[in-house]
Amino acid sequence: MSQGQSNERIADTIGVHWREEEVIRPPEDFVAQANMADPDIFKRMSEAHFPDCFDEYARLLDWSREWDRTLDDSNPPFFKWFVGGELNASVNCIDRHLEKAAERVAWHFIPESEEEAHEALSYGELSRRVNELASVLREDCGLECGDRVTLYLPMTLELPIAMLACARLGVIHSGVFSGYSGAACAERIVDSQSRVLITMDAYRRGGKLLDHKVKADEAAEKAQAAGCPIERMLVFSRYPGQYNSEAPMKEGRDLDANALVRNRAGATVAPQAMRAEDTLFLMYTSGTTGKPKGAQHSVGGYLAWVAATSKYVLDIKPEDTYWCMADIGWITGHSYIVYGPLALGTTSILYEGAPTTPDAGRPWRIAEQYGVNLFHTSPTAVRALRRADPELPKQFDLKFRAMTTVGEPIEPEAWRWYFEAIGHGRAVITDTWWQTENGGHLISTLPALHAMKPGSAGPALPGIHPVIFDEEGEAIPAGSGKAGNLCIRNPWPGRMLSIWGDDERFVKTYYARYNHDPKSRDWRDWPYLAGDGAVQSEDGFYRILGRIDDVINVAGHRLGTKELESACLTVAGVSEAAVVGVSDEVKGVQPEAFIALVDGAAPEKVVDAVKTSVTERIGPIARLRRVHVVPDLPKTRSGKIMRRILVALAEKRDPGNVATLANPEIVEAIHKQLAS
Ligand code: PRX
Repeated sequence: MSQGQSNERIADTIGVHWREEEVIRPPEDFVAQANMADPDIFKRMSEAHFPDCFDEYARLLDWSREWDRTLDDSNPPFFKWFVGGELNASVNCIDRHLEKAAERVAWHFIPESEEEAHEALSYGELSRRVNELASVLREDCGLECGDRVTLYLPMTLELPIAMLACARLGVIHSGVFSGYSGAACAERIVDSQSRVLITMDAYRRGGKLLDHKVKADEAAEKAQAAGCPIERMLVFSRYPGQYNSEAPMKEGRDLDANALVRNRAGATVAPQAMRAEDTLFLMYTSGTTGKPKGAQHSVGGYLAWVAATSKYVLDIKPEDTYWCMADIGWITGHSYIVYGPLALGTTSILYEGAPTTPDAGRPWRIAEQYGVNLFHTSPTAVRALRRADPELPKQFDLKFRAMTTVGEPIEPEAWRWYFEAIGHGRAVITDTWWQTENGGHLISTLPALHAMKPGSAGPALPGIHPVIFDEEGEAIPAGSGKAGNLCIRNPWPGRMLSIWGDDERFVKTYYARYNHDPKSRDWRDWPYLAGDGAVQSEDGFYRILGRIDDVINVAGHRLGTKELESACLTVAGVSEAAVVGVSDEVKGVQPEAFIALVDGAAPEKVVDAVKTSVTERIGPIARLRRVHVVPDLPKTRSGKIMRRILVALAEKRDPGNVATLANPEIVEAIHKQLAS
């Protein structure tokens, strides 16, 4: 349905049946110590003060040259922040802490195997290792400011060290999640035109030592075939002194990174002064169609945004011990394991492995041992841990002051378990909505200033001005509870600069939909299209309904997948649920649910209860045609449920390539189950 032809208005047709949840006030002792408890921040950052209000965030950083202009908006939507300013990200994340805090631990590295020793890396040691690797990159690989390097590294210290070494030189890093295939890595090497690949022989995940160099070789071969040869592959050893890969080191191309770093022992590299609007890194993100897009993030605007949101949303302080369980290979890891927390000089946990290896108690043993007080994870991980044993976390002495979720809407049921079982009802929860393209949080509560509402991300952060549009580009009245397309009206410093090498696609993907005058130089004519459906309730809180393309249209009524799934999850015994619209020649599209159960739940009882819950909570229009009890749901490596695959299976179509899933075997299992 193309824009303009549609007579249908999302506002009228997405049924919204969420019940408003009761709000929960943050505990007073949290409020008393919070980094941001001043309600005036919303006034200071109101539209009247745009864009200069963002200077407050830029001042959280150290600049080698102060900026002349907060925003250059002369060429929308290519906005430049803090123009004239110069800084270096590695200086902000490391050097500036050294005078007072060289001894403070930057990361506790925790190997997956419980037999192995942990490593505490201080800011002083981090500085040494970053400088040495930067020296290797410059002297041994000939890399210069502006070159691209692909990082294909697991969750070990070498990954953030490599990112910061690149940042020190002004080399643009492009991190590829280690769980991705060699082919996916090759695609990103070619698009970014990287000549150097940094990787590791092997790493531990899910109880196994996985051969990683084999995949790096495949990536290099495929990139070469596509005309982008890797000239230097730096290979770290997971266990220095051992080489744990079937793939041999290739003469003339592959270099033993541990040896190179040893040769540069004690080397120091002067940080490259970067313009605020220069590129710090690329992070590829895939949509449903087309090749992955390289979100190109800036040095100044990005770093200011992640520092500010880490401080005010996550409430990070230097003396905290913070743990974000994401993988650094995703944007969450870049922003909220590496750049944000380091800019604030805190201590973090870096855990190599899977949260449930060897058992679901692992995260809580780690948290207890290190006195972790800030915790950050995804709704998928919350559901997995709840499924494994809902009572287990209560046995541990967990002292979380604040907890965060990111990546998907969290169902109120899962939220409440997170709050009670893990937070012991004492920790505040922030449900942070944002995207790879955004750099950092856009919608979330500020935990000392707002009450929490399970299932709603929260109001917009200070300085962010969202609008919900209907299909025709009419703004849906604020607070009306009607669904539409979520957009952000104004530019903000953390937003990507462009799609690497494809400005046209950038404009088309994020701006063309609601821009009516491509020649306009006024930022107000350039709302950013997020691609998510959302509703805003009277109190200003946004509830995210999922990607626009996940909406199910039943007999002309649009139903948000998330609210159907949420209704399934209210039934005791259901641990995970995915609802999809399945086409039927006679009946059109009908919703079907795929559910996974907690151990010991009786399938028949649960199935009936799920059907009843959906009809009762949402209405007969949403009646589930079938409920499939499955062992697990197909998920991406970042934990997103692949509803597209479930639709194909239910419609008896080929689900396509499933190799990049976290659990490809489940697709075959569900296929067999549906065929029998
Ligand atoms: O649909 C939204 C969902 O994740 C998408 C962005 O995914 P990605 O670029 O991989 O970034 C993940 C880390 C931010 C969004 O378009 N999403 C993200 N956070 C939330 C969310 N949906 C609901 N609630 C959230 N808190």
